[in-house]
Amino acid sequence: MTNKLFSPITFKGITLKNRIVMSPMCMYSSDTKDGHVRPFHISHYESRAVGQVGLIMVEATAITPEGRISDQDLGIWDDKHTAGHQHIVERVHEHGAKAAIQLAHAGRKSTVNETIYAPSSIAFDQIKKPNELTSDQINEMITAFTNGAKRAKEAGYDIIEVHAAHGYLINQFLSPLTNKRTDQYGGTLENRFRFLRRIIESIQNVWSGPLFVRISADEYSDQGNSLEDFIALSTWLKELDIDLIDVSTGGVIPAGPSEVYPGYQVPHAEAIRQGANIDTGAVGLITTGIQAEEILQNGRADLIFIARELLRNPYWPLSAAKELQTTIQAPNQYERAW
Ligand SMILES: Cc1cc2nc3c(=O)[nH]c(=O)nc-3n(C[C@H](O)[C@H](O)[C@H](O)COP(=O)(O)O)c2cc1C
Repeated sequence: MTNKLFSPITFKGITLKNRIVMSPMCMYSSDTKDGHVRPFHISHYESRAVGQVGLIMVEATAITPEGRISDQDLGIWDDKHTAGHQHIVERVHEHGAKAAIQLAHAGRKSTVNETIYAPSSIAFDQIKKPNELTSDQINEMITAFTNGAKRAKEAGYDIIEVHAAHGYLINQFLSPLTNKRTDQYGGTLENRFRFLRRIIESIQNVWSGPLFVRISADEYSDQGNSLEDFIALSTWLKELDIDLIDVSTGGVIPAGPSEVYPGYQVPHAEAIRQGANIDTGAVGLITTGIQAEEILQNGRADLIFIARELLRNPYWPLSAAKELQTTIQAPNQYERAW
C-alpha cells in the first residue's frame, strides 16, 4: 500500500513534499516586545524543517500592535518586520519545506492595550470589556490584514492562513455568542461572515497564492454556531477560492469538550470536507504516523497539522515514516544516521 502521509500535494502551484504541517503555535518569544522575529524563531522553525515537516506554519502573527495576545507576540504590522520573516522563510526553504504564516488579530482577547476592540462590547472571561468596532475601524482592520498579506508576500511565504478560530477577532464576528451587532456585520450567518469575506477578498487583491482559513468548528454551546453553520460557511469559503479549511474547535467562550482524546477534532474536518467539498486539515491530539495515515486514507482530511508532538519531537516525520515502514529523505548532513 502506498502511504499518503508522505505523498505530495499541490495548492495553486505550491507543492508540499508531504502532508505534515507544523501547526501554528504562539511562542511568545518576541522578547523585544516590538513584534520582531528573534533568533529563537529561526532555530525553532528551521529545526522542524530539518526534521522534514512538509509545511512550516509560523504562529499567529499580529497584523496590528493592538491585535497581539501578549506583548511578546510576533508581528507583521510594520515594513520593518518583513526582513525577519524573510529570514525564517529562507531557512525553512533551505531544507525543502514550504513556509506559511498565520495572520491574526486577537480582538477582545488581547491583553496588550488599555482599550481593546471587538464586534460587540462583551468581555471574554476576566479580560476587560472591549469597545464595539465602528464601521470605519472595521475597514481599518481589513486594510491591516491586507497589508500583513502584502508583507508576507514580500517575505516570500508560500501560503497564508487567516486565523478565524479560537475566539480571536474574526471568530468573534462569526459567532452569535460574541457578535450582537445590528448592522450589516451582525444578525444572520451571512452577515456575521461579511467581515471574513471582506478580508479574504481584500487579501486576494494583493495575494494570488494558496490561502487557508483556520476555523473553530465547534463552539461548545447550544447558542453558538453549529457544525451545519460551519459547513455552510465553508461552502462560501470554497466559492471564494479558499484552498483549505484548517479545522480546529473552541476558544470563543470559556467552554470546551468534556473530554479530549486522540483525533477528537477529526470528525469536524471530515464533516466539512464532505459537506462543503473542500480540502481540510485535521488537528488535535494526532501523535502517531498510523493515526495520521488513517485520517488521510479514509478521506477525512488532506493535511495533518501537528502541534505539541512537534514540540516534543522535531523529527516526528522520521518517527512516523518508521511506523509506516517507509523511508524518507534525510538532510544530506544526517544521512549516516537516518
Ligand atoms: C504552545 C501553543 C501555542 C499555540 N498557538 C496557536 C496559534 O498561534 N494559532 C493557532 O491557530 N493555534 C495555536 N495553538 C493550537 C495548535 O495549533 C493546535 O491546534 C492544538 O495544540 C492542538 O493540536 P495538538 O494536539 O497537536 O497540540 C497553539 C497550541 C500550543 C500548544
